[in-house]
Amino acid sequence: MTPTPVFSRDAPRLAAVHAQAFETPWSADAFAEVLAGPGAFALAVGEPGPVVGFVLCRRIADEAEILTLAVRPADRRRGLADLLLNKAMALAAFAGAQAMFLEVAEDNLAALALYAGAGFVDVGRRTAYYARPAGAVAARVMRRDLNI
Ligand SMILES: CC(C)(COP(=O)(O)OP(=O)(O)OC[C@H]1O[C@@H](n2cnc3c(N)ncnc32)[C@H](O)[C@@H]1OP(=O)(O)O)[C@@H](O)C(=O)NCCC(=O)NCCS
Repeated sequence: MTPTPVFSRDAPRLAAVHAQAFETPWSADAFAEVLAGPGAFALAVGEPGPVVGFVLCRRIADEAEILTLAVRPADRRRGLADLLLNKAMALAAFAGAQAMFLEVAEDNLAALALYAGAGFVDVGRRTAYYARPAGAVAARVMRRDLNI
């Protein structure tokens, strides 16, 4: 599967995948609003069928950020997130970004392994950043140089 660009009109398809991946789903309107804003771009896998995974990013000047990334449970461990991440980094670098940032819950072992494997390193920590029924969880702030 090849990651392809998606746009505001695809927001409901992204929201459908997001709802299968996170306890607090984002609405289609929320995706559409972000995608209509400056510097936002998204890639998805699954075309021409249903979206099975996507990454949503934003680039402002020479910094880019991963806003959210998800793969449907049934399609995990097939390398799709890795593909999405690498294409997003390549696009951001092509558009002028020098570095990519993200925030990830420190109990999200799958995502932490994905990002570490893609070369992201810790640059900060936000205490009690994600609300959880069992108590708030910190976020790790990670960065990856795009010039390497
Ligand atoms: C995190 C997530 C996006 C990974 O998607 P995926 O398509 O299954 O990931 P990939 O198959 O590309 O995996 C790439 C690497 O990430 C790591 N990884 C992925 N899932 C993992 C898991 N469950 N446990 C441990 N490592 C994992 C592995 O190093 C893997 O490489 P390997 O398969 O060669 O061992 C997916 O589990 C998901 O959607 N989770 C819920 C949403 C989420 O947490 N998003 C990230 C928020 S910051």
